[in-house]
Amino acid sequence: MFGKSIIDLENFSPDEIRLVLDTAKEMKKIIRSDVKKLPNLRGKAIINLFLEASTRTRTSFELAGKYLGADVVSINAGTSSITKGESLRDTLMTIEAMGVDAIVIRHKSEGAAEYATQVVKPVIINAGDGAHAHPSQALLDLFTIEHFKGHIDGLKVAIVGDILHSRVARSDIYGLTKMGAEIHLAGPKTLLPRFFNFDGVTVHENIEDAIKNADVVNVLRIQLERQQAGLFPSPREYARVYGINDERLKLAKDDVLVLHPGPQNKGLEISNAVTYGEHSAIHEQVQNGVAIRMALLDLTLNSGAK
Ligand code: NCD
Repeated sequence: MFGKSIIDLENFSPDEIRLVLDTAKEMKKIIRSDVKKLPNLRGKAIINLFLEASTRTRTSFELAGKYLGADVVSINAGTSSITKGESLRDTLMTIEAMGVDAIVIRHKSEGAAEYATQVVKPVIINAGDGAHAHPSQALLDLFTIEHFKGHIDGLKVAIVGDILHSRVARSDIYGLTKMGAEIHLAGPKTLLPRFFNFDGVTVHENIEDAIKNADVVNVLRIQLERQQAGLFPSPREYARVYGINDERLKLAKDDVLVLHPGPQNKGLEISNAVTYGEHSAIHEQVQNGVAIRMALLDLTLNSGAK
């Protein structure tokens, strides 16, 4: 994977996904050790260009680069010259001129990461482009599922909520189906994709059908910032009909695993009790996110890796 830009899992082979998951397993040992430092990316420079809000993804890419010995600088929308009207192209070219090896980019527009690969040479890693893709999130979801379940193939995974605006759902669908899981999507009709035909994926309007006997329930955040008028029922209605609470979770398997990419709208798509309950792996997902991002940076930037 050396030199490869990471735009989505659509063009990842199952072998490449396997390689990332196995590498992340090794990286997780580093995160848990006393001295969190490897020399793998010493002398490399990484820019985190985050033009949309982020806590987990930005911080974990930053720490991942630092744990591997790279120099990492984060640029945020509010404090960059984008606020002065500088174009994305000029921003990317300015960063490139500083001699960086990789740009991790988050942007509100679908296609922004792909566009970056066309205008500059460093490795581009997509940290979320509009409603399109979020490959590192999907990989950390796969990693977390495999960690708790021992395997991914044959599992019934329900993805519930705002599917229409979710780059996490889209990348999860590619990653999970490639690794042999069966996916059930559910949410209000207005928040489901209108035309959807994907092998291994079933779409339900009724959330109970989707989570019945599920091994994993991935609860998505309602993307309040991406809603258009009329798509979203009232919060109370949403929580009542689609919210994941202990009662609804009883329909899933006894050992169901609950995921949420964060940030959570508590009491809307997920209850407090579920977030902090015995089935939740939400906290573990965050640590796994650092391991996955270390794996991606190492595999794409370290010529000694595969
Ligand atoms: C997700 C994102 O930004 O797409 N969050 C994240 O990366 N942890 C999901 C979301 O914002 O709902």
